[in-house]
Amino acid sequence: MTRAVLGVIGGSGIYDLPGLEGLEDVAVASPWGEPSDVLRRGRIGTTEIVFLPRHGRGHHYSPSDINYRANIDVLKRAGVTDLVSLSAVGSFKGELPPGHFVLADQFVDRTYLRPSSFFGRGCVAHVAFSHPVAPLLQKRIARAAEAEGIAHQVGGTAVCMEGPAFSTLAESLFHKGQGWDLIGMTSMPEAKLAREAEISYAFVGMVTDFDAWHEEVGPVDVSQVIHHLHSNADKGRRLVARLARDFPADHEPCPIHSDRALEHAVITAPEH
Ligand code: ADE
Repeated sequence: MTRAVLGVIGGSGIYDLPGLEGLEDVAVASPWGEPSDVLRRGRIGTTEIVFLPRHGRGHHYSPSDINYRANIDVLKRAGVTDLVSLSAVGSFKGELPPGHFVLADQFVDRTYLRPSSFFGRGCVAHVAFSHPVAPLLQKRIARAAEAEGIAHQVGGTAVCMEGPAFSTLAESLFHKGQGWDLIGMTSMPEAKLAREAEISYAFVGMVTDFDAWHEEVGPVDVSQVIHHLHSNADKGRRLVARLARDFPADHEPCPIHSDRALEHAVITAPEH
């Protein structure tokens, strides 16, 4: 058992986590370049928390410009064992309206401009990724959502697009037609890199809109998105606070090995 450290990546609208005790900001250097911001470290109850705003405080990194490798690397260096990713998303389902939280556990990666691995150039590693979300962490988040009375769905598929523009109507109808639940711009390669770094990862999609497919609602409306970003941010912070309060001190082994993914990976050693 290792001591659990809960990492939280805040998406659009979540640039801080009020309520952290013993708070300090720590600049962690990474050989992968600049992370989105300094890490904010603190405690809720006895749980140690490390927070990173994905887009930087002030929201200056667009989804394609975020240095996902540096972000995951600095969280790993800070000792994070379990990582909760909070993200604003669009919904493809009438029953998942704005304000709903979806604990997605499958992703479809449609990004094409982002380095998506720590490996390559001499040391190749293929980690298992059929189940990108750590089930115990997801279950804890579901329990916290339940306790906080936050409307949520456990499980679902999120497609990650490159952005930053939202989808065309044709793309939106295509994605919806696949039976997927959500669309966002940041779950990938974040989730892949967390797996390579042997950090247990879970995703909370906070719905802000119906993307473009909904005939009565029409295209994504920016003022609606911003309105829901704010109310979702409050709920997201409550969710994290509850999760942290109830979090176990020790990091139990992950049943799908997300915390020891490299032991199960296909690895090519560097040639000499
Ligand atoms: N983030 C929030 N809403 C979104 C949408 N409709 N498409 C992609 N990313 C989003």
